[in-house]
Amino acid sequence: MSLFTNISKLSTTIGAEINDFDLKNVSKDHVQEFRAILSEHKVLFFPDQELTIEEHVAFGELFGELEGHPHINNPNVKHPKIFDLAASTGGIADEWHTDLTFQKRPALMSILKMTAAPDVGGDTMWTDLVAAFKALSKPMQDLCSSITALHDASPHMHPEKMMIHPVVRKHPDTGEAVLYVNEHFTRRIVELGHEESEQLLSFLTKWVQKPDFSVRYKWSKNTIAIWDNRSTQHFVVNNFEGERIIQRVTVTGDIVEPFGELNHDAWSNNNKFSAKSRNDLQLIGYLDSQKENH
Ligand SMILES: [Fe+2]
Repeated sequence: MSLFTNISKLSTTIGAEINDFDLKNVSKDHVQEFRAILSEHKVLFFPDQELTIEEHVAFGELFGELEGHPHINNPNVKHPKIFDLAASTGGIADEWHTDLTFQKRPALMSILKMTAAPDVGGDTMWTDLVAAFKALSKPMQDLCSSITALHDASPHMHPEKMMIHPVVRKHPDTGEAVLYVNEHFTRRIVELGHEESEQLLSFLTKWVQKPDFSVRYKWSKNTIAIWDNRSTQHFVVNNFEGERIIQRVTVTGDIVEPFGELNHDAWSNNNKFSAKSRNDLQLIGYLDSQKENH
């Protein structure tokens, strides 16, 4: 018998609310089924959960190692594996992103408890990056599957933290193609010239934001949301007054594997410098640093 008996889908491909279920009842035996349902719906919402901080952490640990946030300090909860964010101290994630893509192993999944919700507004949106890839034309799918992109942590004031990932990743559990660029952290297509990269990244990062691929959720206090960070982006609608506090645990992710064959060299202007060369400095600097490290 399925672990969940009361699942309501919130859109065709992304989002499901699960009622009449207590997350305290999940054990190691349920992890495989839980992960399968998460891969299918990509973000799950569990209203009315009373998990303590320790129970929240223990639940997350069922799915793997947990990591704190690399750059942002907690305003409220002092626990190394809890990341909390209060709107009153400036923490509003109102730009579309997949969490922590400037890392080698971006988060696998996040488990977020809404501990204070505004009466009106402050919804969160998620978008389905598998659906976004499927909706592209075949020539665009082919191009995107053959290239990589540079991500950095400049939104966290750490532009020196960078990582290259494929533009289309293969989902480790489902094998599906995931369109893996986001406007918050992705800076440059590695194999394209600056102007080409600007245009293509602008198109792709806007494309994934289409309402067709998304779900929007209105929070209540003590709802827990669990999202697959490998196949989604999210965005907080910054239209509320009053306090909004989230408390999150984050499961450490996998290495990002490409969906297609990466068969192009990195952009190079053959060491010719011009007035436009400044646009290539970040990429060239990163590629040089990687050569030195090997
Ligand atoms: Fe986030």
